[in-house]
Amino acid sequence: MRETYEGKVAVVTGAADGMGLGLCRRLAELGAYVVMGDINGEKLNAEVARINQEHPGHALARVTDVTKKDQIRSLIRKTVEWKGFVHFLFNNAGMGGTLPVDQLELEDWRSLFELNFWSVLQGIYAVLPIMRMQGGGHIVNTSSIAGIVPLPYQEAYCATKYAVSAVGQCLRYELWDENIRFSTVCPSNVATSIFSGLPVPDDAVSVEEAVETILAGVGRNENLIVFPEADRKRWERFQTAPEEQEQILLGMARVRKENYRTKGRYF
Ligand SMILES: NC(=O)c1ccc[n+]([C@@H]2O[C@H](COP(=O)([O-])OP(=O)(O)OC[C@H]3O[C@@H](n4cnc5c(N)ncnc54)[C@H](O)[C@@H]3O)[C@@H](O)[C@H]2O)c1
Repeated sequence: MRETYEGKVAVVTGAADGMGLGLCRRLAELGAYVVMGDINGEKLNAEVARINQEHPGHALARVTDVTKKDQIRSLIRKTVEWKGFVHFLFNNAGMGGTLPVDQLELEDWRSLFELNFWSVLQGIYAVLPIMRMQGGGHIVNTSSIAGIVPLPYQEAYCATKYAVSAVGQCLRYELWDENIRFSTVCPSNVATSIFSGLPVPDDAVSVEEAVETILAGVGRNENLIVFPEADRKRWERFQTAPEEQEQILLGMARVRKENYRTKGRYF
């Protein structure tokens, strides 16, 4: 793994917590330089200071709201000023969204698209000229298992993540010959603060496990990085057994409906 990342420059959004922070810590440990963008300036600065204590000079903080085009551009510009290159862009910032469809306002769909999808696109547009100039790079977009499987009660979230998966996969082939790589990260549950207030699901994997899987998959230039293994296998089976997928997702919808009725939440 070290040979992929040592001495390389990576930009990570949503870097003050969860998988984004985990990626930055591990990348710095592997000898990479990380530019960490997050809207939460206080936590961001504290985490950058912590990484720099262990790996002096390997992390730079840049308070960034990824829903603001100028701020994403400035994040990329700052990285180039700092190190001259952007080898990796991890478009990781995003938030969840699970609600019965009739509780979703149009505004909820819009704000979820702003954060989960438009920010990814803005990141891609901001970094492409740099990667072209330097002769290549690798863009890693965080989608979700919800970006490749249609989950009931998650239509808005799924729509944003399907869009992320689609763009990453199309550009992978469009820009392959320019040496610009695309990988799409599709995790199932990972134990992070994304569950804000809800209990973390029993099957959630740790941030550390998620990060190892992501960085190894990127190192192998995988198209879709789907994990954990059990969900990857289920997703693979869905490709060949659509009637099985139909039954599982119908069952899930009924369980979620009952959970909303009895507990006011989906699990
Ligand atoms: N945790 C999971 O189970 C899971 C599963 C599938 C996909 N994902 C995806 O993984 C990514 C990371 O999720 P996580 O679970 O680590 O989340 P998290 O909530 O632990 O961390 C998200 C980080 O993004 C930052 N952020 C929020 N809005 C921002 C904005 N406008 N600009 C910049 N930063 C912003 C937050 O401050 C926070 O530091 C997301 O895209 C999420 O949709 C998570």
